[in-house]
Amino acid sequence: MDKRTKLAEIAEEIRKCRKCKAGKSGLSVPGEGNPDADIMFVGEAPGKEEAKCGRPFIGRSGKLLRSAITGIGLKEEDVFITSPVKYLPDRGTPTDEDIFHGQVHLFRQLEVISPKIIVLLGNTACVAVLGNKTAVTREHGKVIEKDGMKCLITFHPAAAIRFQKFKGSFLEDFGVLRRMLQDVPTKR
Ligand code: URA
Repeated sequence: MDKRTKLAEIAEEIRKCRKCKAGKSGLSVPGEGNPDADIMFVGEAPGKEEAKCGRPFIGRSGKLLRSAITGIGLKEEDVFITSPVKYLPDRGTPTDEDIFHGQVHLFRQLEVISPKIIVLLGNTACVAVLGNKTAVTREHGKVIEKDGMKCLITFHPAAAIRFQKFKGSFLEDFGVLRRMLQDVPTKR
């Protein structure tokens, strides 16, 4: 079975998953992009816009994320964008249980795509992928190796929009990503 079909199967599982839906609403947002991506962006949970369309990062934070991606010479269609939590949480912020359950689907997506680089957008992404809370204000810009993948820690774009000082750091971290791409032979 090819990667696209496997990802479509995971998306279908997410669509039917009662645990994923508990305490949440809207359409499922499994993620989108290139099944063969070398770079994967992991966020937190869909917002209202995303839950209406079923696509990740299409609201205000998505605009910033997508412009930062193209700003370093990547094409949106070459990367994969997702979040550990696949539905809009009723309370806005996902619970620890939501993140813990989200790992089930996220890890399967990671296994299929097998990216070389994962960009962790904020603490929820760090908890989901690295398994521990991370002080993003202190740790951003750092790269952590996990199972042969390089995980770059940065801010969630929503934090970068809310606080001007974080926006500068967020964009600087994309500079780190640009330099990482020079060392990692990617399929772009
Ligand atoms: N924020 C996220 O973390 N994920 C989305 O898909 C949209 C906004």
